[in-house]
Amino acid sequence: MSKPIYIINGPNLNLLGTREPEIYGHQTLADIEKLCAIAAEDLGYNIRFFQSNIEGELVDFIQEAGSQGSVIIINPAAYTHTSVALYDAIKAVSIPCIEIHLSQPAARESFRRRSYVAEAANGTISGFGVKSYLLGLQAAIHLLEASA
Ligand code: DQA
Repeated sequence: MSKPIYIINGPNLNLLGTREPEIYGHQTLADIEKLCAIAAEDLGYNIRFFQSNIEGELVDFIQEAGSQGSVIIINPAAYTHTSVALYDAIKAVSIPCIEIHLSQPAARESFRRRSYVAEAANGTISGFGVKSYLLGLQAAIHLLEASA
């Protein structure tokens, strides 16, 4: 069995479903996890799905992915725009990383225009709602198969 794809979610994403639904939609994080698990299984892959509101725990998940996972898909949420620790963690592991967002941060407040994570990631998918996760999965599998 190949190593799992790690899908890591940052702060406040545990509130999806009720959090600003006009921006983030009505689906919960549990709904998104199920959709990703089904899509991955259809394509012959396993996922591990995490969420934390704590920056250091996100660093721990990235480090764990580096030894036990094949690719990282991360929605770093607000830490996208602030976290040198996430940038360093992604740089420190040798597996690929795809940054995803439900919304399109570049089209929102100016403080969302900088992404520290983008500077360490292989690519970014944003603005497609829940579909950003599924596109992220396709991108992850593309990277895995391209390097096989
Ligand atoms: C987000 C965008 C971030 O700017 C924001 O802080 C979030 C969610 C998204 O998925 O659209 O919490 O990452």
